[in-house]
Amino acid sequence: MNTVGILTGGGDCPGLNSVIRAVVKRAKAEGWRVLGFKNGWKGVIENAFDELTESSVSGILPKGGTILGTSRTNPYKKDGDLKKLKDNVAKNQLKAVIAVGGEDTLGAANKLCQEGVPVIGVPKTIDNDLSATDYTFGYDTALNIAMECIDRLHSTAESHNRVMVAEIMGRHAGWIALEAGIAGGADVILIPEVPVDIEEVCNLIRKRHARGRSFSIVAVAEGAVLKDAGVVADSEKDQFGHVRLGGIGNVIGSLIEQKTGFETRVTVLGHIQRGGSPTAFDRVLGTRFGFHAFDLVKEGKFGYMVSLQGTKILPVPLASAVGELKVVPMHYYEMAKLFFG
Ligand code: F6P
Repeated sequence: MNTVGILTGGGDCPGLNSVIRAVVKRAKAEGWRVLGFKNGWKGVIENAFDELTESSVSGILPKGGTILGTSRTNPYKKDGDLKKLKDNVAKNQLKAVIAVGGEDTLGAANKLCQEGVPVIGVPKTIDNDLSATDYTFGYDTALNIAMECIDRLHSTAESHNRVMVAEIMGRHAGWIALEAGIAGGADVILIPEVPVDIEEVCNLIRKRHARGRSFSIVAVAEGAVLKDAGVVADSEKDQFGHVRLGGIGNVIGSLIEQKTGFETRVTVLGHIQRGGSPTAFDRVLGTRFGFHAFDLVKEGKFGYMVSLQGTKILPVPLASAVGELKVVPMHYYEMAKLFFG
């Protein structure tokens, strides 16, 4: 019997279970065996898997997270891991491994393919920063959560005449902050792509308050940087070399209070944005990605990933997705600026 493996790697995101369910349903309909590897590439290195059946995926569609678990394991980090991974792919006679992940998991998938490991990619990340696909699943859920938080901050900001700073996820790209800010009517939006001029931010707030508004909402992506400063982060790095971000909201909040004299509070949305049930959009996109990933498995289109192009799901080379991150284009940010202040 033909066998396919599946794993979920990197930060979890809503919609992962939709992909797993679609792959299992499709594979079972075509008489294949499915091995669900645990905790990303770690599971393939350690040969830790469960055989997935229709009953393993029953009821998982509305659940957040991933039933397979995830990790940020880099198979190229530790001596011997790559060999173990390759041996386990051969031992389990896998026709393909479906890797569901973001820049790191798919970056490793791309390298593995070049070494002959049969991998198919499925793009996921709440950050929506993968190139070669219009959207990744997980983004829509995170965006809607962030928008709802901005809506909620509005009423308390207005009652107390405060400036509220919302720190929103987005490591290298400010998609969630930008679009949640647009959708939620934030008065200032700060993204990693544009270094923050704190004087300009304070002037926008001052002008708004001079016009009679007594509160302001500032949406800031966690990867945003002050002009002439670096990212605010822990020194510890993960296996792919990323620092843990967080803290820019507090830095910006203190500066705003200090410079404008307006009472300011900071809310870090954090992992709330990644948890919980996926939106309909993410469930459907995950389902379509899983269904079509199985086509690529059957066609032996290794080194490719499924992508959303307009309304179509199309295969694209993994290399085109992981080469360069999809950041917010300046014309879009310029549009958003019309609504600032
Ligand atoms: O890549 C997705 C993401 O949620 C980023 O927005 C964020 O910087 C990072 O993961 C947080 O990672 P962790 O879950 O390891 O804290």
